[in-house]
Parts: sequence; C-alpha cells; structure tokens
Amino acid sequence: MSIRIRKVDGRKHDRLLCDLHDEIFGDTAPQIDTSYGHHWIAYDYDQPVALAQLVPSTLGDDIGYLKRAGVMPSHRGQGLQLKLLKVREREAKRLGWKRLVTDTALRNIHSSNNLIRAGFTLFEPPIRWGFATGLYWTKDIS
Ligand SMILES: CC(C)(COP(=O)(O)OP(=O)(O)OC[C@H]1O[C@@H](n2cnc3c(N)ncnc32)[C@H](O)[C@@H]1OP(=O)(O)O)[C@@H](O)C(=O)NCCC(=O)NCCS
Repeated sequence: MSIRIRKVDGRKHDRLLCDLHDEIFGDTAPQIDTSYGHHWIAYDYDQPVALAQLVPSTLGDDIGYLKRAGVMPSHRGQGLQLKLLKVREREAKRLGWKRLVTDTALRNIHSSNNLIRAGFTLFEPPIRWGFATGLYWTKDIS
C-alpha cells in the first residue's frame, strides 16, 4: 500500500469525486458539490481510496467548514481521516482562515475520535445546520 494525498480541482475531477463519494457514502449522504471549495483525493498507487472537502463557512469570515470526508472500507483503520484533517487544516491556515468547524452524526465514533486527535472541541453553533442530534466541532487555528 502506498498512500498519497493530492489536492484536486473539483470541477476537473467532478466525475471521479462523485463516483468515489457514491462508493463510500451510497445514499447515506447528499452528493457533494464540486463546483466550489477545495478537494482532496487519497490514492493507493493509482486507485482513489478517500476524499475530503473544505469550504468557507457561512458562520463568518475566516472560518472554514470541513464539509465531507470518507474512506473506502478497504482502506479504513490506517488513519486516513486524520491525515485528511491535517491537510485541510494546513490549507485553511494558508488561506488565512482563523477557525475550522464541522459536524458529525452522534454515533460516528470514528470521526469524533479523529477530530479529538486533531485538536477539535465540541461547541454549540447559533444554528444547527446539520443533524439536530449531531455533534458540532471547532478548532482555533489562528
Ligand atoms: C469515518 C471514517 C472516515 C474513518 O476512516 P479511517 O480514517 O479509516 O478511520 P481510522 O483509521 O481512525 O480507524 C479507526 C478504527 O475504526 C475502524 N473503522 C473505521 N471506520 C469504520 C467503520 N465505518 N466501521 C467499522 N470500523 C471502522 C478501523 O478499522 C479502525 O480500527 P482499528 O483501530 O482496530 O484498526 C470512515 O469510517 C468512513 O469513511 N466512514 C463512512 C463515511 C463517514 O462517516 N464519513 C465521515 C463523516 S462525513
């Protein structure tokens, strides 16, 4: 196994990102919009095995939203989600953003643990934009 994470142009890689998203999420999450934001694909040699997205948050200026991340079942358990958190944090800092936010389903223990490992803490946003019962996470990156 040889994993490399590449930043990709969402518009140019639209089909690949959407196909990968379908394989990982099926109908459990709405399809991603590849026309804006920042996108990454993790490859095992030339096989795409994971994806992640970062977009500006509607919560305010200088805030990024970790919108979606997923790993193919065949490649889970190797810390790929954590790596995808780190590349997105690096990009957010490069963009001059000061804070990151995201949300997870209450029972998504793996995502919660990875967010804790990456230094995120729980917070209550002004409006729960996702799951009513979800967990909302933030990290100061200023
Ligand atoms: C959440 C997710 C991204 C984590 O993937 P990952 O980076 O491979 O997770 P980790 O490397 O931290 O794996 C942690 C442990 O949980 C296990 N694991 C990870 N995801 C699992 C899953 N969905 N079901 C069962 N076990 C899982 C791993 O095998 C590993 O076990 P181990 O420590 O005994 O080896 C991945 O499970 C996934 O893509 N799930 C579906 C989509 C999703 O929920 N995305 C996040 C919300 S947008």
